[in-house]
Amino acid sequence: MGVVALVPAAGRGERLGYGMPKALVPVDGVPLLVRAVRGLFDSGRVRHVVIAARPSDVDVVNTVTAPLAPADGAVHVVAGGAERSDSVRLALTYALREIADTSIVLVHDAARAFTPAAVVRAVVDAVAAGHPAVIPVLPVVDTVKQVDVDGVVVATPDRAALRVVQTPQGFDAAVLLRAHEAAQAAGLGATDDAGLVERLGVPVVTVPGHADAMKITTKFDLAVAEALLVGTGG
Ligand code: C5P
Repeated sequence: MGVVALVPAAGRGERLGYGMPKALVPVDGVPLLVRAVRGLFDSGRVRHVVIAARPSDVDVVNTVTAPLAPADGAVHVVAGGAERSDSVRLALTYALREIADTSIVLVHDAARAFTPAAVVRAVVDAVAAGHPAVIPVLPVVDTVKQVDVDGVVVATPDRAALRVVQTPQGFDAAVLLRAHEAAQAAGLGATDDAGLVERLGVPVVTVPGHADAMKITTKFDLAVAEALLVGTGG
């Protein structure tokens, strides 16, 4: 069972306002991407990580992440594409071509830099147990409204049936490839790989996520992450 984690990190990440790719923004001196990749390896389930970086950042990303790999694994950095789904597809095809025995693939967001290793293990183990697509989720604590283009409420979905989705999302590698090929043929991009698998009619199952796997998107999130580190001494 070869588990490869793909980390699309080729966006500009301007919302954090640091003037650098979000993945390289430091939290307590350590870039988000480094923390995220370290967490994947810490799970003990992942030996290879493929990062899609902006072409201009491939060298620097290589330099900061290469030392994180275990002795029997490696970090690979490829140039990403125009959209996130292009970056995932490029990393996936690289993994299937270059990393022997790639059977399970995780897609992880570098912005979820504090994802506990236990969440990574739960996702991998569920795929290994035979589920072709697995996502970590949390219950929804807020009431959610569906609105029309004018912002007028059209529906109030039952909150008990809703989940917030985190990463890493885990897939049978062949299923994810099929999902991305179908999406590309249909001209669809995706912010959510599981959504592409759903379109194939393949069931997507859920495992419990964790509050620490929050997505760091804003300066407020960064401040929360720094506070988390103070709380854990990490
Ligand atoms: O910009 P956005 O928040 O949608 O990006 C989501 C993730 O996809 C980020 O981690 C970003 O680095 C990545 N991405 C990518 N290739 C792109 C655009 C975004 O890998 N062309």
